[in-house]
Amino acid sequence: MSLKLIRTNTAEEAGAVAADIFEEQLKKKKDSVLGLATGSTPLPLYRELIRREKEGIIDFSEVKTFNLDEYKGLAPDHPQSYRRFMQENLFDHINIRPENTHVPQGLAVDPTAMCIGYDDMVRQAGLDIQLLGIGHDGHIGFNEPDICFPKFTHEVQLTSMTIEANARFFDSIDDVPKAAFTMGIGTIMTAKKIVMVVSGADKAGIMFDLLHGPVTPQLPASIIQFHNDVVVIGDHAALSRI
Ligand code: GLP
Repeated sequence: MSLKLIRTNTAEEAGAVAADIFEEQLKKKKDSVLGLATGSTPLPLYRELIRREKEGIIDFSEVKTFNLDEYKGLAPDHPQSYRRFMQENLFDHINIRPENTHVPQGLAVDPTAMCIGYDDMVRQAGLDIQLLGIGHDGHIGFNEPDICFPKFTHEVQLTSMTIEANARFFDSIDDVPKAAFTMGIGTIMTAKKIVMVVSGADKAGIMFDLLHGPVTPQLPASIIQFHNDVVVIGDHAALSRI
């Protein structure tokens, strides 16, 4: 295991440190394959990547991206879909080719075939970096606590904790989809490098369990202890118990 922990003062600073890693990767390989994430945590990183692209420091013209997950049943242009989130917070502001950006299809007619196809695409492209946030129950992507680590992209039923946590983005909790599509833990672990970004005091407890507890599918993110190139970047609040 090689897990590097970087502590920053603020969430903004954590985003800038993560941006340095992405910048280094893009300078090393113009056609890098990036695994991306949604949620509030990656926003400072995305703002920083946009700024660096505008200043000509980085170039996304040959980059491919694959997002971790998407809500089942939401159209790409639904205000809360992860496709729309990525367009608004990153893709629409950088010189990436639309056809090089991939997000699981929330409205797939044949969900099983979509998941298999998505997983094949990710593995064939080969993730250079996978960006991760973490849910309060230790989920990564939408891999919820389970009795085993899911290997492939699949459909999941969201837990009530995740539905409650994500309700802040919807008009009411009843509008939050109950199911989603997510890369599996096995898919995530194919990435050459994993970059986890965390911020906020509400993540301090799960970060303690993640870094000091056993590797268990009950805390899906704990699997990163078994990856050989992981960087965890967190602000003081999130890492206060480490
Ligand atoms: C959602 C996403 C996860 C994300 C998590 C935490 O459930 N599917 O990929 O890591 O939220 O989000 P936040 O960064 O807003 O706390």
